Amino acid sequence: MSGQGANESTEAVWSAVDDYLTGHLLPDDPVLAATLEASTAAGLPPIAVSAAQGQMLHLFALMLGARRILEIGTLGGYSTLFLARALPADGRLVTLEAMPHHAEVAAANFKRAGLDHKIDLRVAPAIETLPKLEAEGAGPFDLVFIDADKPSNTDYLRWALRLTRPGGIIICDNVVRNGAVLDGASADASVQGVRCFFDALSAETGVTATAIQTVGAKGYDGFAMIRVCAA
Ligand code: SAH
Ligand code: DHB
Ligand code: MG
Repeated sequence: MSGQGANESTEAVWSAVDDYLTGHLLPDDPVLAATLEASTAAGLPPIAVSAAQGQMLHLFALMLGARRILEIGTLGGYSTLFLARALPADGRLVTLEAMPHHAEVAAANFKRAGLDHKIDLRVAPAIETLPKLEAEGAGPFDLVFIDADKPSNTDYLRWALRLTRPGGIIICDNVVRNGAVLDGASADASVQGVRCFFDALSAETGVTATAIQTVGAKGYDGFAMIRVCAA
């Protein structure tokens, strides 16, 4: 942990409170549990959003009435399922994943969830797929979730801005990283990626943006939220 880490007992409280909150607010969900189990069994890293964060993404998609969603960074498809479940019958989600093994696990998870018909999983570095999506006319998207390689965050922001409809929302995960975002001298390319993302975002006109720090089962981190202005 770089930056000012909380001690272990504080992190245990964050995690226990997450369990308390999700225990009250999220129904037991065998499909989502199986998604995480299959991801762990396949050796994927435990870096999916927390259940509470996943439900927040689900709520954002519902609030927007999202019909088209783009996700950059699939992993085992845990966040994907929260988002896809918010789609109407004719809604579609495109999710981009560079690693074939992660994509295989995700594809099986989508099938188990009965949502594979709504999810278009593209296996390639996102920076290659994004121009193809534009050329295909896959957008505009109502909601974009950026959650892949952090050094590319600024590139993904620029593509998200091109591909999001006026009034649409872009969410970018992991923008606080235990406070490491403060360290301008950091040798961590992910930290520099997040800092570059905020520099680019602050120079952007035509957006309304914020970022929120979070604690919970995934420690201390945060997400940025950007609304692309209408007209
Ligand atoms: N959104 C997921 C977690 C994604 S973890 C969830 O919350 O459930 C980040 C994912 O981005 C990993 O699976 C990683 O393989 C993928 N990734 C890394 N670099 C990438 C790139 N250049 N293009 C697309 N995906 C990439
Ligand atoms: C990392 C990536 C994530 O998307 C995340 O939520 C947590 C950690 C990582 O690359 O370390
Ligand atoms: Mg993340």
